[in-house]
Amino acid sequence: MVYESLPRNVRILLLGEPGVGKTSLILSLVTEEFTEHVPPKAEEITIPADVTPEQVPTNIVDVCVAEQSLEQVGEEIEKAHVICIVFSVDRQETLSKIASYWLPFVRDNCPDHLRKPVILVGNKIDLIDYSVIDNIWDIAEEYPEVDRCIECSAKTLTNVSEMFYNAQKAVLHPICPIYSIDEQELTEKCKRALTRIFKICDLDGDGLLDDYEVTIFQRKCFDTPLQLQVLDEVKSVIAQNIAGGIENDCITVKGFIFLHCLFIQRGRNETTWTVLRKFGYDESLELTHSYLYANIKVPVGCTSELSYKGQQFLTQLFEKYDRDKDGMLNPTELKNVFSCCPRIPWHNLRYTVPTNEKGYLTLQGWMCRWTLMTLIDLQNTSAYLAYLGFNFLENESQKVAIHITREKKVDIAKKQSSRNVYQCHVIGPRSCGKTSICRSFLGIAHKKIKPHANERGDSNPENCCINTVAVYGQEKSLVLREIPLARVSDSLQPHEVTCDVACLVYDVGASRSFEYIARVYIKYFAESHIPVLIVGTKGDSLVARQEYMLQPEVFCAKYQLLAPQIFNIRENKHDVFVKLATMAAFPQFQAAWILFSKQRHLKHFASLSGENSSWWKAGIGVAAATMMGLLLIKIFSFQRR
Ligand code: GTP
Ligand code: MG
Repeated sequence: MVYESLPRNVRILLLGEPGVGKTSLILSLVTEEFTEHVPPKAEEITIPADVTPEQVPTNIVDVCVAEQSLEQVGEEIEKAHVICIVFSVDRQETLSKIASYWLPFVRDNCPDHLRKPVILVGNKIDLIDYSVIDNIWDIAEEYPEVDRCIECSAKTLTNVSEMFYNAQKAVLHPICPIYSIDEQELTEKCKRALTRIFKICDLDGDGLLDDYEVTIFQRKCFDTPLQLQVLDEVKSVIAQNIAGGIENDCITVKGFIFLHCLFIQRGRNETTWTVLRKFGYDESLELTHSYLYANIKVPVGCTSELSYKGQQFLTQLFEKYDRDKDGMLNPTELKNVFSCCPRIPWHNLRYTVPTNEKGYLTLQGWMCRWTLMTLIDLQNTSAYLAYLGFNFLENESQKVAIHITREKKVDIAKKQSSRNVYQCHVIGPRSCGKTSICRSFLGIAHKKIKPHANERGDSNPENCCINTVAVYGQEKSLVLREIPLARVSDSLQPHEVTCDVACLVYDVGASRSFEYIARVYIKYFAESHIPVLIVGTKGDSLVARQEYMLQPEVFCAKYQLLAPQIFNIRENKHDVFVKLATMAAFPQFQAAWILFSKQRHLKHFASLSGENSSWWKAGIGVAAATMMGLLLIKIFSFQRR
């Protein structure tokens, strides 16, 4: 069933047989006294928000069938949010007509999927000295839209304001979505929602709410402190009524759910609704769009990263769910983290982030996975942070967990990037060893890989992997994305070109391999700001002469690129990744890198000629010192603030 979203005002309609006291009830509420002679139909009344218990403007509408056509009454039902069907407790036939006439009439005038809450009101209790409530349960059972029943008297003013207050509550805190009257139990959806809430509030993840955790929960939901004596009473009620509700003097999830069941059975739905709303639920017990998706814009040229607060939250989450404290999330632990989310947001962790040999996530792998999701699917990150309770614990929107980097062109102008996550495109012909490079980055290159398993798709749909590298002592994340070239004339899409650093890969043993990337370099990168590193793979195989007008070394020298890096998975050369990350972090220092390579070349000649000069070391030392200088200045100015 779908429930209407929360209205800005509450429109209460009074229906029922003639003479049951509808008009008298309205006038008694407004004038706080009973008048014998009332008009057949009261004018519509608006009660301002500040004088209603729920602080919402409330309209009260009277119906008089002697004065209105059934069509007009039907229209009023359509406009109302809640319907009070009044009967007179001293006239049985007015009660009988509720089930035989009024409830079906109300249903006929509501859209199929939307049932409005109904309150059954037994008026004129001053005339009898017994209760008729017991005669009403059958009706309430047959019609689930009956939210509650109340007995009152317009004459003695007994329960009159309560009746209207209950009507307000039925709209603002409806019972149907959260409680099944048939089963006398919370609905499954409500139990699921409360379980998620319990898990978020269980800060240490031991499956119990201790006094401290309950106090935080209470303060965040209701803005009032919880007296210890009250907490003890609550715990003893749970202990007495439900087996396994209390363990080690703490509340279990079973106890927590029981407590809410009790609130609702005592007519205190608003308590449960306050909790549910605080955790983002709407009237249908779905998380609202605005709760899940923080409005975060990523301007062109900027990227999204996790902020310090985001990282802190996720680190704590990892530690909370790593129950065996082995520094890994095994499949059960991982499933537990996301048990209250629609699904585990990722698959194929094994080839995407650092894992242990069984494919379990380490803390580093966990943070990398979130970093990657934040970069490529910010909306999903926002939603999952919400599912996992970021907003509640940090008391702020997910925006706080995200950092939007400054524009890339500012980085380039300042010759330094303040980003922490860099994207590297690994571009090369099929089978040239791109996947091996990516796996080597994750430290799993030695594992057997099915040929092409990772090309454009199947085993790793995002076609990318992520790990961290230290750049001048600072930890940076580097995302490698594979871009295969099927034909030598392949053209790249703009999104395949745009990155922080490009790694152009050829196979040193395949004579046609270099031509692919040479063409790509000239066409897409030669004129761009994007630093490029050329990598020759399969360095342990026989080097073939490349069938291209320039050999790789000469090509690099001509275009002022760092000499080809020869890569061999058996050696697990991590320095290639450090170079890539450093080039991404200091895009304008390409020149320094070239200098470095040329000088190394020179050094080679120098050592051949027996001259052992170290001037080039000083050269690169200056470049490195400049970079370090920038970092130090930043750190110092940050500390001084
Ligand atoms: P219609 O407008 O004809 O549909 O009737 P109504 O439901 O508006 O009833 P109305 O308020 O006109 O009341 C009908 C009669 O019941 C009046 O004589 C009231 O004085 C009397 N009455 C209303 N409420 C009470 C009550 O709580 N106790 C007693 N004893 N009499 C009541
Ligand atoms: Mg009337």
